[in-house]
Amino acid sequence: MANDYPRILLRDLDIPDIGKYEVYAKNGGYEGLRKALSMAPDEVTNLVKDSNLRGRGGAGFPTGLKWSFIAKGQMDKYVVVNADESEPGTFKDRQLLEKNIHQVIEGALICAYAIQAKAVYIYIRGEFWDLGYNIEAEIEEARKANWVGSNIGGSNWHCDVFVHWGAGAYICGEESAMLNSIEGKLGQPRVKPPFPALKGLYDSPTVINNVETLANVPPILVNGAAWFKSIGTEKSPGTKIFCMSGHVEKPGNYELPLGITFRELLEVAGGVRGGKQLKAILPSGASGPLLPATEQVLNTKLTYEDVAAVGSVLGSASVILMDDSTDMVYAAYKMIKFFRHESCGKCTPCREGTYWLEQRLSAIYHKKATPNDVKLIEDVARQMLGKSLCALGDFATSPVMSALKYWRDEFLAYVEQPKAGTKSAAAPKPAANKAAVGAHVAD
Ligand SMILES: Cc1cc2nc3c(=O)[nH]c(=O)nc-3n(C[C@H](O)[C@H](O)[C@H](O)COP(=O)(O)O)c2cc1C
Ligand code: SF4
Repeated sequence: MANDYPRILLRDLDIPDIGKYEVYAKNGGYEGLRKALSMAPDEVTNLVKDSNLRGRGGAGFPTGLKWSFIAKGQMDKYVVVNADESEPGTFKDRQLLEKNIHQVIEGALICAYAIQAKAVYIYIRGEFWDLGYNIEAEIEEARKANWVGSNIGGSNWHCDVFVHWGAGAYICGEESAMLNSIEGKLGQPRVKPPFPALKGLYDSPTVINNVETLANVPPILVNGAAWFKSIGTEKSPGTKIFCMSGHVEKPGNYELPLGITFRELLEVAGGVRGGKQLKAILPSGASGPLLPATEQVLNTKLTYEDVAAVGSVLGSASVILMDDSTDMVYAAYKMIKFFRHESCGKCTPCREGTYWLEQRLSAIYHKKATPNDVKLIEDVARQMLGKSLCALGDFATSPVMSALKYWRDEFLAYVEQPKAGTKSAAAPKPAANKAAVGAHVAD
């Protein structure tokens, strides 16, 4: 299957230098904002609501509905662009920020107009520091063209756009931790409710949307809700950028309509590296459950609801592939190590749970554990699920619960006492293949 679908987001692949203001403007840039300014703010929100655009940051929450929660009135309001992109295997926002930044700025300004915000903050992950400077330069280009600042596009609406750098903490991608971080506080999640729509940045109503979500907004304004709904499926319309990594022939970003299957996506990305057998798929980086590469899974449509129906999440669509040489115990250990490191420590189930999961997984992996430890990690993960303050605590249980669900025998092989002369004496070789999950766990 060729990747010949029309691209809405990764336009840099079709139009060189679209990230520069002049090129973007010559190719229909800021027409969406111009159209929005000719409409009443509520009409803009309703149009985005009608399009059924769903948030691309992970949860798939309806974007227009989120905007409609913002209170009306004269108080300060804000838009925060979530450009923290730290999920392992996710690198789609980076391409948009680097190569098509005006589409993101324009989308954020349309959102700001719809809720009548006074400022947009682009919260960019600290490691993208060089991109941040380029974004600032492009904001200035948009300002010169009167799309940022006072009396935008000749209207009587004023809005500024700022870049705010993170400092390399995964948890600051969680929206309320991000707000604390922008305010100069410790980057830890807030207790919700109140939700940011009511009490967000500086206690004011705030919309937080992902980079890719907002990049969808200008074409929706220009082409209409019906056009957007004609792409993808009814409940998951539009295209999605799939980040392909791990044991795949052609890793990279692929923009395809939602509703294509895992199998079709794999074909577009050149198949499994070296023509090997596919063993497992992580559809959503480290935070969604692993899936075995069964016929049923491969034929599953990539939509929010279809991936959920087979027991995982579409999330940010960072698809990590693992071939049949992958050691699932190592993979689970590696992912837990990440979550233990990134847990902010504010609540006990996540702080203690990730520590103990890592500790016992390390023991299993190093063959210093007993079968009871396999039961123990399952119990710890169960105790954490639904009991943590933010979703990181739940994310951290996914690698353990899903690896045990499908590959329990691999865990047991590490802990069972080998009986001389029996097949179970052949315990798996530790760390058979580390490539798909990275190799920087200190063994
Ligand atoms: C631990 C954690 C990390 C997150 N990291 C990101 C991130 O890097 N980028 C992102 O857009 N959303 C991230 N999210 C989701 C955000 O909290 C939020 O739901 C999202 O920005 C909303 O945007 P959307 O409605 O456009 O999807 C994260 C959530 C959690 C719990
Ligand atoms: S679940 Fe983890 S990351 Fe989230 S607030 Fe609690 S300790 Fe922090």
